[in-house]
Amino acid sequence: MEPDADTDDEADIGTTREAAKFLPTSYDLETSEQTLAHYEAWAATYDAEIGDENRYAQPERCAAALRATATGPDARILDVGCGSGLSGVALADAGWTDIDGCDLSPAMLALAAETGVYAELLEADLNAGLDVADAAYDAATAVGVFSFGHIQPAALRDVLRVVRPGGAVVVGLNDHYWDEGAMPAELDAIEAEGLATVTDRQHGEHLPGAGIEGWVVTLTKAGRGA
Ligand SMILES: C[S@@+](CC[C@H](N)C(=O)[O-])C[C@H]1O[C@@H](n2cnc3c(N)ncnc32)[C@H](O)[C@@H]1O
Repeated sequence: MEPDADTDDEADIGTTREAAKFLPTSYDLETSEQTLAHYEAWAATYDAEIGDENRYAQPERCAAALRATATGPDARILDVGCGSGLSGVALADAGWTDIDGCDLSPAMLALAAETGVYAELLEADLNAGLDVADAAYDAATAVGVFSFGHIQPAALRDVLRVVRPGGAVVVGLNDHYWDEGAMPAELDAIEAEGLATVTDRQHGEHLPGAGIEGWVVTLTKAGRGA
């Protein structure tokens, strides 16, 4: 029997169409092109899915880790892969006021601008290099950005380059990517080369609403601080 068009229309009345979910496919990304398309499509509902629904814990955990370093209230901070700004808002809530952000996705950067916590926002693919002067920042954060098809571990060297000697870099990432092995191997190499020291490493909640845990790793760049 043919479906009754009127009945279908009536069934739609009063229903709320649920937003598409993007978290499940976030761990299947392989290239920057796929990742850019993913976040351009996700931007409008990212905060609701990650922050509200899954109770994203890493921004506050990373801000707390940075507070445990010698990064003072006047520090200039770069939020690498700032996304829609959840990570920058956590830094602002922790008391910092001089925060810049950079990200691959223009749609995510537009949302970051709306938060009002960033002084400057820069569109950049971290895997292609960061067009920022050496030692321009006192500290950097990279929250939820080292992952499959996202920022690759080798880019951590460029993040360290733009932080001053003695400055802190805080990285928050999930267990899926940590267990893949490339990130801990890069951290070991960075330490072995004397570029930075891992000064703290904490395991805990990443996305508790999805049952995902993760690491917050604090590095201190080699050399004497200003
Ligand atoms: C899970 S979101 C995290 C955003 C924000 N830091 C937070 O904690 O909510 C990952 C972000 O990394 C960005 N990203 C992925 N690959 C990147 C790349 N190669 N260069 C710069 N940003 C990238 C994405 O556009 C996205 O905004």
